[in-house]
Amino acid sequence: MSQINIIHAAVIGLTATFLLLAFDRAGELRKDQYVYVPPAPKVAAAAVDPDKGKPPPHNDKVEDLPEGKNRELTFYTCTACHGVALIKAQGLTRELWDSTLDLMVEKHRMPPIKPEERTEILDYLAEQFPPRRKGRGSDNPFLK
Ligand code: HEC
Repeated sequence: MSQINIIHAAVIGLTATFLLLAFDRAGELRKDQYVYVPPAPKVAAAAVDPDKGKPPPHNDKVEDLPEGKNRELTFYTCTACHGVALIKAQGLTRELWDSTLDLMVEKHRMPPIKPEERTEILDYLAEQFPPRRKGRGSDNPFLK
């Protein structure tokens, strides 16, 4: 009689243990430790401009352009993508500066400039960086 009781106790004990283990595996016993964190929503890649918010690739300041009327406007319009060195390296007629701005818009994705600002920027560029007697722009056949 007592032998049967021992076997019963063992069977019940083992069953209880396996049930507990099974529940534990299923996460039923420690629910608070299994918090479901939804995955972060994927942002449509195409909608994000990779250049947006990036600082410009140089440390130029307004003062790096020669003093003159419309210097600030020119600086902030023209240095989002490159430094002032590219601009200062050029000496162009007003017409060629004008087509340089077209080039920036058409080829380099510069946002089009408002007409009145375009005039002011051209005033500045044509005055500060005119064709040099010997140099790029004045006698460069590729810019004609
Ligand atoms: C949206 C970007 C962007 C903006 C804004 C921009 N540029 Fe450019 N620019 C470029 C790129 C790109 C190049 C080619 C740079 C290179 O080769 O490293 C370039 C080149 C140049 C060059 C050299 C061209 C040559 O033939 O060597 C000049 C001059 C120039 N830019 C002037 C300007 C002026 C003036 C403005 C403002 C009205 C301006 N850029 C605004 C992107 C821009």
